[in-house]
Amino acid sequence: MNSPLRLGIAGLGTVGAGVVKIVRQNADLLSARTGTSIEITAVSARSRDKDRGVPLTGYAWEDDPVALATREDVDVFVELMGGTDGPAKDATEAAIAAGKHVVTANKAMLAIHGQALAEAAEAAEVSLRYEAAVAGGIPVIKALTEGLAGNEIKRIVGVMNGSCNYILTRMESAGLTYAEVFAEADGLGYLEADPQLDVGGIDAAHKLAILSSIAFGTKVDFDGIELEGIERVSIEDIRHAADMGYKIKLLGVAQKTGRGLEQRMMPCLVPDTSPLGQLQGGTNMVAIEGSAVEQVVLRGPGAGEGPTASAVMGDVCDIARGLRLPVFGQPASTLSQSTPAKSVLPAPYYLRMALDDKPGALAKIATVLGDAGVSIDRMRQYGHAEGAAPVLIVTHSCTRAAVDHALEAMQGTGVLASEPVVLRIEAV
Ligand code: NAP
Ligand code: HSE
Repeated sequence: MNSPLRLGIAGLGTVGAGVVKIVRQNADLLSARTGTSIEITAVSARSRDKDRGVPLTGYAWEDDPVALATREDVDVFVELMGGTDGPAKDATEAAIAAGKHVVTANKAMLAIHGQALAEAAEAAEVSLRYEAAVAGGIPVIKALTEGLAGNEIKRIVGVMNGSCNYILTRMESAGLTYAEVFAEADGLGYLEADPQLDVGGIDAAHKLAILSSIAFGTKVDFDGIELEGIERVSIEDIRHAADMGYKIKLLGVAQKTGRGLEQRMMPCLVPDTSPLGQLQGGTNMVAIEGSAVEQVVLRGPGAGEGPTASAVMGDVCDIARGLRLPVFGQPASTLSQSTPAKSVLPAPYYLRMALDDKPGALAKIATVLGDAGVSIDRMRQYGHAEGAAPVLIVTHSCTRAAVDHALEAMQGTGVLASEPVVLRIEAV
C-alpha cells in the first residue's frame, strides 16, 4: 500500500459535503481501487458552525482557503467553493505554487483562467483536474482527453445546463410561461445563486469553452462564444415547435471550420425524436463526433450532490493512481489561439411571425424569403381572434445571413404585426 493521499477540501456546500460522504462511506473501495488510502486532513468553508449533514470531526479546520491549500499535510487541494476569481482562484494558484495537485468543479474559473492555471500546473508538475466542472456526473472530460484521444474531433454538441433544460421541459409539460417556471425553479433551489449564470447561458458556455479547448487543441476562449440565453423562449414557440416536430433546447455546439472555431450556446430546435429532443429535466447530454469513432453520446445527471461528487472522486482516484495528464489534453504551451468564427454553415430555420390578416400578406413574406434565397420547406398558419395571423415557417437549409437579409426586407412589407422569432434547427 502506498502512503495515504491527503485531501484538503475548501467548500462544504452541495458538492463538498458529497465528497466528504464518498470518502467516508467508500473508504475501502477507494483504497482497493487505487492502492492508496484516501483521507481528508483539513477542510474550509465560510461558516464553521453550519451543520453539513456529515461529520467533520477529525479534520483540521481552516478559515482561509489559501492556508488550507498550502498545508504540509495536504497533497490534493479540492476546490469546491466556486467563483471566477476571489478565494477559489487565489487558493488554486497557491496550491499549485506549493506543489499540490488540484481538483476543482469550478467551470467559471477554468473558462476564464484555464490557460494560465494549466500552464502553472504543468510547470509545477502537478495535476489540475476538473471532471465535475462539465456536465456534472458525466465523465466527458475523461472521454475526450483519454478514450477519444486518437480521433480528430469534428463537432461537439450538447445540453450542458440542467436548470435550463428543466425550465424548457417543464414549460412544455405544464403549459407554463417562462416567468412562471423560472420562479418555480428558483423557489426549489434549482438555480445558481446568480440565476443569470444559468438562464443567460453563461454557465453552459463556460462548459462548452472547456470542451472546445480539449477537442480542438485551442486555448480556452469563452469570449469567442456566440451566446444567447433562454429568457426569450416563449411558451408559444415551445408549443409551435412541438407542432412542427421539434423541441427547443439550450444547445451548445463547437466545431472547427475553415474560417476558425465556431462556438455557440443558444436556444435551438432539435427533432423531438432525437436523443437530445427526448432529454428531460436536469439531465445533460453531450455528443462527440470523431474522425474514427463517428459519434459517442454521453447522457447523465448534470448536477447535484452525488453526481458531482462522483466526478470529483474520479479525479482524486486518478491522482491516487499516479496518473498525470496535460490539463487540456495536450501541453498548455502547445494550445493555439483560436480565431472565433460565426456560424456560416447552412441550417434550416424556424420562423414565427404574426401577419396582418389581409389579402397578399403571406405572399409578400414568401416573396421576400424567395428574393433572399431562402426556400420554404413547411408553413403553417394558425387560427386567431385579434386580426393578426400567427404564421410558422420552416425553411430549407440556408445561411443565417440569408435569413437576416430576408428579415430586414420583411420590415418594409408593411404586413408584420410583431417581430419575427428566428431559431436555428440543429442536426443532431
Ligand atoms: P455551494 O453549495 O454554494 O457551496 C459553496 C461552499 O463554498 C460553501 O460551503 C461555502 O461556505 C464555501 N465558500 C464560499 N466562499 C468561501 C470562502 N471565501 N472561503 C471558504 N469557503 C467558502 O456550491 P456548490 O453547489 O457545492 O458548488 C461548488 C462548486 O461546484 C462551484 O464551482 C460550482 O459551479 C460547481 N458545481 C456545482 C454543481 C452542483 O450541482 N451544485 C455541479 C457542477 C459543478 P459556507 O457553506 O460556510 O457558506
Ligand atoms: N447550474 C448548473 C446546471 C449546475 O444547472 O447545470 C451544474 O453545473
